[in-house]
Amino acid sequence: MNMLSEAAVEKALDQKMSNVPYKMIGQDVSVYYGEKRALFDVNLNIRENTVTALIGPSGCGKSTFLRCLNRMNDTIDNCRVTGKISLDGGDIYDTSIDVVELRARVGMVFQKPNPFPKSIFENVSYGPRIHGLAKSKADLEHIVEMSLQRAGLWNEVKDRLHEAGTGLSGGQQQRLCIARAVAVSPEVILMDEPCSALDPIATAKVEELIHELRENFTIVIVTHSMQQAARVSQRTAMFHLGNLVEENDTDKMFTNPDDPRTQDYIMGRFG
Ligand SMILES: Nc1ncnc2c1ncn2[C@@H]1O[C@H](COP(=O)(O)OP(=O)(O)O)[C@@H](O)[C@H]1O
Ligand SMILES: [Mg+2]
Repeated sequence: MNMLSEAAVEKALDQKMSNVPYKMIGQDVSVYYGEKRALFDVNLNIRENTVTALIGPSGCGKSTFLRCLNRMNDTIDNCRVTGKISLDGGDIYDTSIDVVELRARVGMVFQKPNPFPKSIFENVSYGPRIHGLAKSKADLEHIVEMSLQRAGLWNEVKDRLHEAGTGLSGGQQQRLCIARAVAVSPEVILMDEPCSALDPIATAKVEELIHELRENFTIVIVTHSMQQAARVSQRTAMFHLGNLVEENDTDKMFTNPDDPRTQDYIMGRFG
């Protein structure tokens, strides 16, 4: 029997993305900031255990769409969302939805690392504590360790868990924020340009991490770097002027896109 290398198996899996079930479904999603319309009837589905990259020129609506997925737009005055978004089939904009619970299921990592001005331990334990996920102190310590392990940060911080999170390097702070997001066992993790404030080495670490996290989580990442999208994602969605231009397997998107606007963007003709 022919043995496929791990990479070949992964590649084969990646190319069968059309068979992967949807974790989130976005139907005719439009967003308005006051009078200004920022998204136009976007239909975009997010596949389970997949990294989906959102790309496109600055101001095209990537962050706006991302924020719809855990109702972060609710926190912006004047912002109105129409259309339908579901998570495992349930409408996340339904009036019965507890938004705090939703954001535990759909976590978020921001552009600038934003640890709380508290210890490394408290940064990670806060979420599990308020959501009542730990039965005992030992349990909480276990969750903190596992989360830091998953974020690839444990070995660097295990001897200084009670020092300030803000004392870490930028790259470590961002991995701390990933550990904090992971600690509440979310199903989906949203990342809005998570590497844009990081140096190339810290960026490579976070990219590697994203790759590993995909096994247990569904990930949606906004990036202005097409190289990054190509490196970390299996699906890519391209936005332009508030419209979803194309969504495709990442390989196809960067070699043979269907839409001429994607081609232009990838060739660097605009944006
Ligand atoms: N809080 C806001 N208030 C008003 N307009 C906004 C706000 N956030 C974004 N916009 C506008 O919505 C459009 C899409 O922005 P955004 O989603 O941030 O784009 P991207 O993340 O692709 O750069 C832009 O025209 C931007 O100016
Ligand atoms: Mg943005």
